[in-house]
Amino acid sequence: MSNRTFTMIKPDAVSAGHVGAIFEKIAVAGFEIKAMKMTQLSQREAEAFYEVHKERPFFGELVAFMTSGPIVAAVLEKDNAVADFRALIGSTNPEEAAEGTIRKLFAESVGRNAIHGSDSDENAAIECAFHFSQREIY
Ligand code: RTP
Ligand code: MG
Repeated sequence: MSNRTFTMIKPDAVSAGHVGAIFEKIAVAGFEIKAMKMTQLSQREAEAFYEVHKERPFFGELVAFMTSGPIVAAVLEKDNAVADFRALIGSTNPEEAAEGTIRKLFAESVGRNAIHGSDSDENAAIECAFHFSQREIY
């Protein structure tokens, strides 16, 4: 069990003005911000980040959405970070997400679902390194 995870506030939530409210929930849940930036993914970056989904029917839609506007990327630290953060954000489909979770509160649909959270310690390390150099993580 590692203590780091990676998140992105997705373009729907950034453009809707939910960044502050979402980070408030992240802070209240006990996560410490170790790195953070606003950036816009290129087509190539989004395809690389979501490489595992490239054979899925929604891949083109996912890449188009993730490149449609700025995101906020962050590295978060807490005991049991990956599992606790997935619980905080809720199910991929907001209609199935538990009350009080970030996706229940802020996501529009399964495609436009407000936030990303790493799904394993191994992927958390890969995703943190994808977005941040060692000297950008504090
Ligand atoms: P994420 O990676 O963004 O944290 O989401 P997740 O683990 O809950 O879901 P995952 O299976 O990794 O899917 C990645 C993203 O692809 C979009 N998706 N669309 N239209 C669809 O049926 C569908 N299924 C997945 C979602 O935006 C999901 O977050
Ligand atoms: Mg995922």
